[in-house]
Amino acid sequence: MDLHKMISLLQLNSLSREEFTRIVGPVFEHSPWIAEVAFAKKPFADLKNLYRALCETVKNSGEEEQLALIRAHPNLVGKFALTGQLTKESTNEQASAGLNRLSPEEIDLFQKQNAAYKNKFGFPFIICARLNKKVAILAGFERRLKNSREEEIKTALEEIFKIAELRLRDLIAN
Ligand code: GUN
Repeated sequence: MDLHKMISLLQLNSLSREEFTRIVGPVFEHSPWIAEVAFAKKPFADLKNLYRALCETVKNSGEEEQLALIRAHPNLVGKFALTGQLTKESTNEQASAGLNRLSPEEIDLFQKQNAAYKNKFGFPFIICARLNKKVAILAGFERRLKNSREEEIKTALEEIFKIAELRLRDLIAN
């Protein structure tokens, strides 16, 4: 966590829409439109209130927007991770799950599961990497590959909300 990048809610509530979007935007991977839309709900009384406004924005958007949000996430141990091209948030998240310390065989297994998942559902496998270690993530692939596409869209959004809550906690100072 980078203390210098933290901001108080009082400061956030006084920002222009553009500034607010620049700062809160990265709470959702490559999807600054969520912060931009939620800006209309300010002022935010507390972190929970801001978090709810952001999640409501996603829930109230159409399925195409929701799928675009899901698809904006990088694969775990995917091409971007292996070539150092992730956002700084994603780099930290994947490292926290131990995914930067895999054997060649484990890397192959992740790539195989990423491909099987993407092939079945048409979007990447999303699990909150900061709340799961390697073994739990691999078990998640096995279990969730059996689900329906509808269930997986729902689960992916729930995981994205967990990722967002942790990112928001890193951003907001009490
Ligand atoms: N893809 C699957 N899980 C995650 C995660 O926790 N963070 C990011 N950025 N991408 C993911």
